[in-house]
Amino acid sequence: MEKLWIEGGVPLTGEVEISGAKNVVLPLMAVSLLADGIFAIEKVPALNDIKMMAHLLRVIGSKVDYSSKTKTMTIDNSYCSYYEAPYELVNKMRASIYVLSPLLARFGQAKVSLPGGCAIGPRPIDLHLKALEQMGVKIEVNHGYIEAEVDRLKGAEIIFEKVSVGATVTVLMAAALAEGETVIKNAAVEPEVMSVVACLNAMGGKIEKRGDSELRIIGVEKLRPITFKAIPDRIEAGTFLIAAAVTKGEVKITGCEPLHIEALIQKLKEAGCEVQAGDDWVKVSRKGDLKPVDIVTHPYPLFPTDLQAQFVALMSLAKGTSVIEETIFAERFHHVPELNRLDANIVVEGNKCIVTGVSKLSGAEVMATDLRASAALIIAGLAAEGVTKVSRIYHLDRGYERIEVKLEKLGAKIKRIIA
Ligand code: EPZ
Repeated sequence: MEKLWIEGGVPLTGEVEISGAKNVVLPLMAVSLLADGIFAIEKVPALNDIKMMAHLLRVIGSKVDYSSKTKTMTIDNSYCSYYEAPYELVNKMRASIYVLSPLLARFGQAKVSLPGGCAIGPRPIDLHLKALEQMGVKIEVNHGYIEAEVDRLKGAEIIFEKVSVGATVTVLMAAALAEGETVIKNAAVEPEVMSVVACLNAMGGKIEKRGDSELRIIGVEKLRPITFKAIPDRIEAGTFLIAAAVTKGEVKITGCEPLHIEALIQKLKEAGCEVQAGDDWVKVSRKGDLKPVDIVTHPYPLFPTDLQAQFVALMSLAKGTSVIEETIFAERFHHVPELNRLDANIVVEGNKCIVTGVSKLSGAEVMATDLRASAALIIAGLAAEGVTKVSRIYHLDRGYERIEVKLEKLGAKIKRIIA
């Protein structure tokens, strides 16, 4: 079984280039189904989740090609004929749900397996389905499958009772070719969502943002395929900044969008780090002790849930106690018992974890439970005394492109082993 072997204690130094964002490429691949012809996405990272989505598109009938050299993916949907997303694919990759509304827009029907839950919580899709029903879709759920049909999607006023990235993207894709106007209130406005908006507009869509969280979409007759560049991965960027901070190093991340990680940058400064930023780079260093910092996760532009686990790992070495509150997912503290195996002192109380900083962490065998928890264990291992071995790193490969190679280039003693 593959593991990551890490010998901690080395301050990370140097520069690292940030890859394209997994969480924008996945929806963009679904968006491609809204147009015939050759759709291309640039800056696509080589990640397992993206490979899974490519496989799903091929099942639907798309021709998908990807070059790990140029990082460009081309998708030709001219011959798509199948409107089913099977269980064995959807249950491995929740973002498969993204194909539901493009299949409806294209075929007037869709059969998509219900996504299962995952380590961080039940992951329902009620907001997606309720919104589609408001747009005229007839939905039944039979034997674990969503069976949906519609003559033509109709514009509607959708008010989300909670902010949902996925449900917002589902409605954007359904509304782009619908009859009439759709208004989404309390929309997610994460950079990845706004990038999907930019892509749909470049394809001929008519979407505009009103105020902080309202999106207005006027349906058009047709969308054309384009070439679109993925935005940098703000979560990978934040993960590297936190890794540099925990090892008392000095790292410059390049090819990123500092605006997308402002909330993290603010918290790193509060924790005693020095942070500088340019147009497409951020440099972080730390000389003195880590100060305890409280975090509450919220939708963008506040502190992202996808950096919560990594920040908990950082705070495990702060001089004092931090309270980290998770408001997005019900069970996103699976990294805590594993961090405590490295001699961290963290207690979970409901949706909060109380992190009492310790003077040092000690290497141990730990197990990854989900994508971002894996990153938290690596961050802790980089700072721990001695060797840490992280198992079940298939979780990691879903969302980080060759993270051990990038970390090794920054001086980390880290390698992938078979053990
Ligand atoms: C996206 O997931 C991201 N995944 C997640 O990143 C990210 O953590 C999340 O947004 C929040 O930012 C991708 O983009 C592929 P949500 P998504 O719908 O769309 C509840 C990572 O590590 N909800 O914004 O599934 C839901 O349970 C992953 O890269 C409903 O109740 O998240 C959660 O509590 C993890 N009903 C909250 O809303 C619904 O119909 C936010 O979920 C949909 C969601």
